[in-house]
Amino acid sequence: MATPMRVLILGGSGFVGGAIAGQLVKQGYFVTVPTRDRERAKSLLLLPSCDVIAANIWDPAVLEREIAQHDVVINLVGILSGDFERVHVTLPRLVAEHCARHGKRLLHMSALCADANGGSEYLRSRGRGEDAVHAVARQTGLAVTMFRPSVIFGEGDNFINMLARLVRLFPIIPLGSPDARFQPVWVEDVARAIVVAMQRPETIGKTYELVGPQVYTLRELLTWVMHTISRPRPVVPLGNGLATLQAMAFEFPPGKWLGALLGVEMTRDNVASMRTPNVSSAPFPALFGEAHRLEDVVPTYLAMRFGRAQYNQFRADR
Ligand SMILES: NC(=O)c1ccc[n+]([C@@H]2O[C@H](COP(=O)([O-])OP(=O)(O)OC[C@H]3O[C@@H](n4cnc5c(N)ncnc54)[C@H](OP(=O)(O)O)[C@@H]3O)[C@@H](O)[C@H]2O)c1
Repeated sequence: MATPMRVLILGGSGFVGGAIAGQLVKQGYFVTVPTRDRERAKSLLLLPSCDVIAANIWDPAVLEREIAQHDVVINLVGILSGDFERVHVTLPRLVAEHCARHGKRLLHMSALCADANGGSEYLRSRGRGEDAVHAVARQTGLAVTMFRPSVIFGEGDNFINMLARLVRLFPIIPLGSPDARFQPVWVEDVARAIVVAMQRPETIGKTYELVGPQVYTLRELLTWVMHTISRPRPVVPLGNGLATLQAMAFEFPPGKWLGALLGVEMTRDNVASMRTPNVSSAPFPALFGEAHRLEDVVPTYLAMRFGRAQYNQFRADR
């Protein structure tokens, strides 16, 4: 019997990494997830053929050794604030160079609307990161596939859960960028796309936009979340200026501390990103199956955390 493929997931300790590792392990792959903090990746420790290792991937020798020891590399490392150039450009270039040197297949996670001339530093750095990886591929023949998801939902997400937390905590919601548009895609659909692409050589050299079946404004999503957890609240839409001020308040103490306490991260650059509609002109790629509707997935996990079901759970636990 052939030895199962070994997959290295950089940035695999997060939300998307958990879903990808779960699908890979189910299919018999060996998975390694390096992390700066094993505690953060504790849910992965239960997966039978997944190795979570404390490793500093910024140490060139460590990064090269890990890449050399695996057959496929998935790079999910990403941030919403901080040193974008280092995380979204320098690291992807290094990963691509090591993959090329050792003849490894690379799957690179970017973001929808990534563009070196885009409307925020996040989107520009994502665009420059893609360009850097493409440049390595052109020079070396590196086998790379790229993914550009819209906002991703699923149990443990940071987006829908954050809206639900705000609704639960505040009697009135001042909402920046209410008309920002998104095409949310389910984390298990994203994970399936990456696993299928890894298995299909015809995806090499391609970039896939990963979006759900429907476009929503931020205000529509918030209203739907309120309805789903049965907590209607008045919404006060904020114009661009006020939205920027609101984000600024979350960037510096004490707003930053409050944000950390509430699990709300918002920066002026995030507000700038939301000015670019986060939607695609193409549907979810048929090669990866069908994308699920938000309405068919989210109520289950929102109900468990915020809705009536938590009281049922509470009763069941007594
Ligand atoms: N979630 C979304 O809605 C969405 C939408 C579009 C694109 N994406 C992209 O998809 C990827 C995965 O998203 P996610 O939601 O799973 O993110 P996440 O939960 O925040 O996980 C991010 C991962 O990146 C690693 N990381 C962050 N900064 C790092 C640094 N300076 N050095 C080393 N590792 C670092 C973290 O590893 P540690 O264990 O070491 O902390 C973590 O495993 C990201 O690139 C993200 O930008 C996500």
